[in-house]
Amino acid sequence: MSTPVLVTGGAGYVGSHACKLLHARGYHPVVFDNLSRGHRRAAQWGTFVEGDLGDKDAIKAVLLEHRISQVLHFAAYAYVAESVRRPRQYYRNNVANTLNLLEAMVEVESDTLIFSSSCATYGEPDTVPISEDHPQRPINPYGRTKLTVERMLADFGDAYGLKHVSLRYFNAAGADPAGEIGEDHDPEPHLIPLVLEVAAGQRPHVAIFGADYPTPDGTCVRDYVHVSDLAQAHVQALEYLAGGGGNTAFNLGNGDGYSVREVIDSAQRVTGRPIPVIEARRRWGDPARLVGSSERAREVLGWNPEFPELDAIVDTAWKWHGRGTP
Ligand code: UFG
Repeated sequence: MSTPVLVTGGAGYVGSHACKLLHARGYHPVVFDNLSRGHRRAAQWGTFVEGDLGDKDAIKAVLLEHRISQVLHFAAYAYVAESVRRPRQYYRNNVANTLNLLEAMVEVESDTLIFSSSCATYGEPDTVPISEDHPQRPINPYGRTKLTVERMLADFGDAYGLKHVSLRYFNAAGADPAGEIGEDHDPEPHLIPLVLEVAAGQRPHVAIFGADYPTPDGTCVRDYVHVSDLAQAHVQALEYLAGGGGNTAFNLGNGDGYSVREVIDSAQRVTGRPIPVIEARRRWGDPARLVGSSERAREVLGWNPEFPELDAIVDTAWKWHGRGTP
């Protein structure tokens, strides 16, 4: 029988890509998602359970019913700007609901959790590329909720023996290369999908949020990492803990920084279409430069991204976003 894995947020962007890979690797994903941001159609692999992490009894029931000891925890709100406006919802969903999940796991003796953390836990870095031992000083509520959960995990590990890995994603991007699933947020705040909507003729232009940053072209620099490569790291992290690996955190990025203008240039190359831009004010909560060193994930997990190049990442996203456009 295939090993069941609970996937909270398995109907969401990164979670659905992880389910596809889990299934391909012989695991049985059990998706637990309240569909507040995810899509039922994205949960195509394994078992789907509509449920909310606010309901601890429902979590315990699904863990017991499917005899689950391993959990991939994706479910969270993940928009920096929204977190600044609505910290209550972010602490409730990302922190309080994660506490429910951890309590449920302890109570039914599920012992392994892989957590979707974020480069947002570092805040404005002193040096790039950022390594895992860089101080974590988040500058927005979203980053603070993710750091709070990392600390909860450390305490639950010490006190209750919970085995855990935090994966600190840099900028998740791209789509399933087979085109079955992709990024589908409503509203869409992320740069690459917005730029591709402009290329597809669905928006007149993209706004560059801040052209006065202390970066080479004045726009923010990010480290874009393909969503299927993130999925890969989750399966490797499960195997690492199952093989006796210790509790830890890994950065997941490609180590290359691209500015907002460079992303737009890449999208013009990939799509062959013009992408009009306007310059707008900075978006609150955005660090100037986030680029990660993922040496630890490469060495310890054997993580080897399949799509390290920005154009290749944008190309998979375009096959998804541009589908059906003339
Ligand atoms: N940007 C624009 N115009 C837009 C949208 C975005 O200029 O219309 C800029 C942003 O200001 C930022 C860059 O493009 O500089 C990337 O923005 P995204 O919204 O695509 O991604 P973020 O860097 O804000 O967010 C990502 C993850 C978060 C994570 C964050 C860490 O989606 O989960 O990185 O800062 F917290």
